[in-house]
Amino acid sequence: MKKAPTDAIVQIEGHIVDSDILSEVFDLIIKGGGKFEIRDFVIGKTNIETSVAQLRISAPTKEKLNLLLNLLNAKGCFVVTEQAATLKRALKDQAVPDDFYSTTNFRTEIRLNGRWIRVTNQRMDGVIIVTGGKAAVRKLREVTKGELVVCGLNGVRVHPEFKSRERGDFSFMSNEVSSEKKVSLAVDKVAEMIRKRQGKLVIVGGPVVIHTGAVESLCRMIRGGYVGGLLTGNALAVHDIENALFGTSLGVDTSAGTPVDQGHRNHMRAINQINLAGGIKNAVRRKILRSGIMYELVKAKVPFVLAGSLRDDGPLPETITDMNEAQAAYAREIKGAEMVLMLSTMLHSIATGNMLPAWVKTVCVDINPSVVTKLADRGSSQALGIVTDVGLFCHLLADRLCKQ
Ligand SMILES: NC(=O)c1ccc[n+]([C@@H]2O[C@H](COP(=O)([O-])OP(=O)(O)OC[C@H]3O[C@@H](n4cnc5c(N)ncnc54)[C@H](O)[C@@H]3O)[C@@H](O)[C@H]2O)c1
Repeated sequence: MKKAPTDAIVQIEGHIVDSDILSEVFDLIIKGGGKFEIRDFVIGKTNIETSVAQLRISAPTKEKLNLLLNLLNAKGCFVVTEQAATLKRALKDQAVPDDFYSTTNFRTEIRLNGRWIRVTNQRMDGVIIVTGGKAAVRKLREVTKGELVVCGLNGVRVHPEFKSRERGDFSFMSNEVSSEKKVSLAVDKVAEMIRKRQGKLVIVGGPVVIHTGAVESLCRMIRGGYVGGLLTGNALAVHDIENALFGTSLGVDTSAGTPVDQGHRNHMRAINQINLAGGIKNAVRRKILRSGIMYELVKAKVPFVLAGSLRDDGPLPETITDMNEAQAAYAREIKGAEMVLMLSTMLHSIATGNMLPAWVKTVCVDINPSVVTKLADRGSSQALGIVTDVGLFCHLLADRLCKQ
């Protein structure tokens, strides 16, 4: 019987030297029990030129080699081959062959009919479906029986994000959580990135935005035309509306910071008012809701998505309680986003991080550094963290961006 090969030739291209990617690749091979031999290495001679390395990788068994190739694929190493990507049919709706290729959030290409084609709808934890010579990422639940699924690593090429060069100003805090001292500088940089952006800025926010007094700051940013969409849950909307109608957030007077008599009823009263009006948009149209974040969004026709959760009171009529539908609505809204600003919500930030391609600039503001770490652990390594109070951050940011 023919012995399965235990070595393979892989290639990697890009700013692999100064981004430390090459040394990470070497480490992975050695830690995985393999060996490497550099067959060819052309180093970029300027800060613009990229480098290309070709390596022979060997491992004691075919299984170990496959494991290594899988790990190296996410670093941008692709098996040098003229072979097309392997396509197999989905076995039934929502089920694919077990050797399916699982996507990363990096730009990906597959080889079809003798050329490399770009995979669209890039996100992590999906599968690649080929239809009519085109390739796109889909969630497993969106696959239907008989569709062609990319399997294995042959003919699959991933382009990881490289350090500063491709990310420009965005490298200011790469992979580090900033201390309080750096907050003002960080806000300057974020404001500059927002001003310079060409595409949409999407905000992901939690109710802490309201409790910390950031309502007016966000309203200024919406009125200034900076916000292209808001992704949140039921609570931000409820407390924003509570604040607009009764001047409290979770029963606490938002100006004085003191609890008000019977204030604990106010968030339920807010939900009740919106239910009576037939939803947030109708409440604005009928002049019941006259201020606040939700009011400004409706006025400026900025789309918002309220994704439900197990914690929700109400929920408000616009809250989507079917989780697959809510995920799909988030995914639609982040299409074409150039930048995402995540404000004090672990749940919605990580959920959105899971859907974003790696090249979308992602800034996460939270008082807890572990939220940023969690984002990075899930694969959103490009997410940058600013550890501070979200009220203070929004106040400084609105001041930098808006004159009014
Ligand atoms: N009454 C309700 O309907 C209700 C109330 C609360 C939450 N919820 C829902 O529960 C889900 C989870 O809520 P969540 O996103 O608020 O919770 P979460 O735990 O996912 O995130 C809250 C985040 O805020 C951070 N934080 C706390 N204080 C901060 C500050 N001062 N500055 C910056 N960051 C700060 C925390 O570190 C945490 O990461 C959401 O869908 C929400 O809508 C519903």
